[in-house]
Amino acid sequence: MFRTLAFKPFSCQALPALSATRSVLRAPTAFRYVSGGSPSYSMIKTETQGRVAVITLNRPKALNALCGELFHEINDALSRFDGDDNIGAVVLTGSERAFAAGADIKEMKDTEFIDNYKNNFLGHWVEQIGRMRKPIIAAVNGYALGGGCELAMMCDIIYAGEKAVFGQPEINLGTIPGAGGTQRLTRAVGKSKAMEMILTGTVNLTASEAQTYGLVSAVFPPEKLIEETIKTAAKIASKGAVSVQMAKEAVNQAYELNLSSGLHFERRLFQATFGTKDQKEGMAAFSEKRKPNFVHK
Ligand code: CAA
Repeated sequence: MFRTLAFKPFSCQALPALSATRSVLRAPTAFRYVSGGSPSYSMIKTETQGRVAVITLNRPKALNALCGELFHEINDALSRFDGDDNIGAVVLTGSERAFAAGADIKEMKDTEFIDNYKNNFLGHWVEQIGRMRKPIIAAVNGYALGGGCELAMMCDIIYAGEKAVFGQPEINLGTIPGAGGTQRLTRAVGKSKAMEMILTGTVNLTASEAQTYGLVSAVFPPEKLIEETIKTAAKIASKGAVSVQMAKEAVNQAYELNLSSGLHFERRLFQATFGTKDQKEGMAAFSEKRKPNFVHK
């Protein structure tokens, strides 16, 4: 049973500019700890299917625009699932119309540099996802624009519905991507396409283009997307959790380290897997021609 964190629901859009500045920049002060029960969120839905947790952004009227409160809820759910031994992988999704149409423009439009700088605006977006040890798969239907595209790219795998649209339109608002768009998109699609998308703000990628570029690893009919994503998440969650975690860590180091340091890092983790019960079980099962029964230790 989760130890739940109750939110005092409020609409980000209803906030006047000054309150909006506070909600964008700071953790809400309305957190209240409750023992037992289910987590109570106002802008996301969470459910579990076996060892898979699904987080669905649920702010349909604003096309899942990422306001401060929505991100606090995402982060809270992610940290709960990361700490839950019964969960092996997380799926993050939105609606058929929008995964997320970006940071909430109405909420941030009147904020000022000095507050954004002092409070490290957008820093909290990346912190929890960056800390996640379990794999997260983004299931993207509809718009993944600006911060929505960046949120998908923070995940470990992206699956898309056929009508998904990926873009970084911030330049049209007089700003630039602020949650990884210039860095992760460039690594995913190469400099020329990333420049074209980010500098024009109008060149977007369809799902199939995103797959061609390697941004997305599979494309499905919109109505099949969640089911197919959960299937992959369940497959990952059925493996030994320690080796999944180590494999994720090693792949992520490919972005941070030079080749010899990365190979060294990988080899040490490979050696470390021999200290786990799951490695003994996995190799014994192979030798005995049976399915492994992983215990995630
Ligand atoms: N912030 C706040 N509200 C948003 C929003 C956003 N990013 N995107 C959409 N909405 C709201 C609209 O204002 C509208 O609300 P109202 O009904 O109250 O007017 C509602 O969602 C529906 O949107 P539209 O009527 O515009 O729907 P559409 O189908 O005609 O167009 C769209 C869809 C092309 C996605 C269009 O809404 C759009 O261009 N949205 C903005 C996309 C954008 O610029 N994203 C980048 C934001 S900046 C950012 O993300 C910075 C960063 O790097 C973190």
